[in-house]
Amino acid sequence: MRTFELLVNGMTRRVACEEDTPLLYVLRNDFALNGPKFGCGLGQCGACTVLIDGQSVRSCVTAVNDVRRGEVTTLDGLAQGDKLHPLQSAFLSEEAAQCGYCTNGMIMTAKVLLDRNSSPDEMQIREALAGNLCRCGAHNSVVKAVQRAARELKP
Ligand code: FES
Ligand code: FES
Repeated sequence: MRTFELLVNGMTRRVACEEDTPLLYVLRNDFALNGPKFGCGLGQCGACTVLIDGQSVRSCVTAVNDVRRGEVTTLDGLAQGDKLHPLQSAFLSEEAAQCGYCTNGMIMTAKVLLDRNSSPDEMQIREALAGNLCRCGAHNSVVKAVQRAARELKP
């Protein structure tokens, strides 16, 4: 057991746990950040996606010891106060969630895409999100939501 200091959503947080504890467990169980979801626990579905230094990471297979000095951003950290991130509001406007279990991973992965490419075409959006599984079949409305967010994020 060790104490770790993590920078999460702009705040320094401390947790005592084993080195190989998945970051997802720390985020949800210790920090009550329930945006990232436990889906497969095997790095295969994307439900647990968070950002570390702006890169998408599957937090179910990322040991807390490997986070080190990286800045972790979760879905909970995208909004600014009461103002939702354009991706969050676009998912609401397009009703892009059914059960909502995949939505965290869709939004966090789309954020990485839009940070790199402000005008992705439909194929680029689908390719970026291909590793995020949705068993409700919400893909078409997810693509529309990402397109809407891209329009809203344009200067
Ligand atoms: S829960 Fe992490 S990839 Fe499925
Ligand atoms: S909305 Fe249910 S898994 Fe995607």
